[in-house]
Amino acid sequence: MNAIELLVQDHKTVKKLLDELSATTERAVKTRGELLARIEQELKVHTELEERILYPAIKQAGGREEEKMYHEAKEEHRTVDALVLPDLLGTATDTVEFAGRVKVMKELLEHHIEEEESELFPTARKLLGKQALDDMGQAMQAHKKLLGAGHSAA
Ligand SMILES: [Fe+2]
Ligand SMILES: [Fe+2]
Repeated sequence: MNAIELLVQDHKTVKKLLDELSATTERAVKTRGELLARIEQELKVHTELEERILYPAIKQAGGREEEKMYHEAKEEHRTVDALVLPDLLGTATDTVEFAGRVKVMKELLEHHIEEEESELFPTARKLLGKQALDDMGQAMQAHKKLLGAGHSAA
């Protein structure tokens, strides 16, 4: 699996978990907690793979436009990691407030994923070429194992 294929597969996993979480009600306290913990873990690993391996390669190989994309994408990561997700983790799962915050996080992530898949990843394909993407895919898989994420793919 090359780097892009691996990241797109992660996106599918996260989108599915977000759909499941959105479908829960205040009564599903345990399920909400479990789904949120899984989303947190998936995002942590995925974001790290992108920021450590793919993003720097795009920035390095590209020009001004790619540098802008790089900063925009990192800023979107930071919004979720530093603001939205911590707030959600601190919100009681038996409240309507929780559902509201899930909706916002889902919208942000779906927007971010859509931009990666329609702009950033095609740019990476063009700039980096097959061999580099294959090598990065290997590095990502190794890094995932290291982070203990190997068992999270359901
Ligand atoms: Fe991302
Ligand atoms: Fe991503």
